[in-house]
Amino acid sequence: MFSSRTDWSLTPNRLSEQLRARRERGLPILDLTESNPTRCGFSFDAEEILGALRDPRSLTYEPDPRGLRVAREAVARYYAERGVEVDTERIFLTASTSEAYSYLFRLLANPGDRVLIPRPSYPLFDFLARLDHLDLAPYPLGYDCGWRIDRDGLEAALRACSSGPARAGTNVRAILVVHPNNPTGSFVRQNDLEFLIGCCRTRRAALIADEVFADYAFAPGAAERLGESRGERVVSFAATTGVLTFTLSGLSKISALPQMKLAWIVVNGPADDVRIALERLEVIADTYLSVSAPLANALPRLLEVRRTLQPQILERVGRNLKGLDRQLSKSSALSRLETQGGWYAILELPDVHDAGDAWRSDEDWALELLREDGVLVHPGHFYDFPSEGHLVVSLLPAPEIFEGGMQKIVARLS
Ligand SMILES: Cc1ncc(COP(=O)(O)O)c(C=O)c1O
Repeated sequence: MFSSRTDWSLTPNRLSEQLRARRERGLPILDLTESNPTRCGFSFDAEEILGALRDPRSLTYEPDPRGLRVAREAVARYYAERGVEVDTERIFLTASTSEAYSYLFRLLANPGDRVLIPRPSYPLFDFLARLDHLDLAPYPLGYDCGWRIDRDGLEAALRACSSGPARAGTNVRAILVVHPNNPTGSFVRQNDLEFLIGCCRTRRAALIADEVFADYAFAPGAAERLGESRGERVVSFAATTGVLTFTLSGLSKISALPQMKLAWIVVNGPADDVRIALERLEVIADTYLSVSAPLANALPRLLEVRRTLQPQILERVGRNLKGLDRQLSKSSALSRLETQGGWYAILELPDVHDAGDAWRSDEDWALELLREDGVLVHPGHFYDFPSEGHLVVSLLPAPEIFEGGMQKIVARLS
């Protein structure tokens, strides 16, 4: 009776099972995976946020497939502040970035076509792709004093797609980048963008750039300054002209308002490709018309909320990162990987080869930390790390929770 694409294995994994049991017993949890900004003690201006939704214009229905103009103009102003000019006719509002992905997958790909995604990265892609009958092919990010696109690996992934067992007619339709990536915190460099454009052009593939964390950039650290030959960070993919490019972002991270459910797609690139993409996206968006008038009318004010939220988040993330480094300086076994932005840090576990009998998988460590210390972290495989040896922590929790949790992690892993 049911479709094969919803035939998931819904058995909870060992970590969620243990978490559920712990919650049921009422035991304390230091949650270092918390990345819901509405639960991390930030100060939101309730009057302003709720007031933004009380707009009399929302009493009339003026359907517009792209979303109300007043909202698109606010999005264009957001990019203008970053020095990027965006035409409001090239903006489509969606209920979330996830929905935006779905529009684009349907726009670009036939069932069985492929989209290249970075590895490690955000775990939702598997679900999004499967729901739209796409196949994902990972391309590697390499780590060398900071993460960056492994160009040879990306080319190999492209080659493997054309020589693999794909059904006749299937193809790579898009290369996806997350800028900065979750959880590696790495930005795409200008010269890597040139490379990506070249790859996309050769394949007639589009570029999809997820910039939800783009405003959360750290000042370049020593390792990044050393690697300056890698080129400048790309300001925004919304300025890309060399290939058909879709740039995604939204309120969930920009203004730390995930509950408002509002995001967008900006379309750029060669004129002919853009024209066809806009025509077709208009039909997709018109079919759903998923953004409500109260939200669209509120967007200009909700985007302004970022001016009070982003400084709080940057302060929190910076403080937790410093606290993390203080803790790690006490441990020779544990370290963290270089990051350039975003809301996460990656802990590197003792070298698996040196650990001997003490060796455990990331998941075993996560289970042990939860069971013995009540500390919740994500094992690297949640983010598809290609090898063991990584735990991922959110930098958003209140400093006392973060520090308490990190102390326990350092004590256990040392
Ligand atoms: C890289 C990335 N893109 C998109 C999203 C989700 O955004 P939205 O709430 O707009 O669907 C997340 C959420 O954590 C994310 O990490």
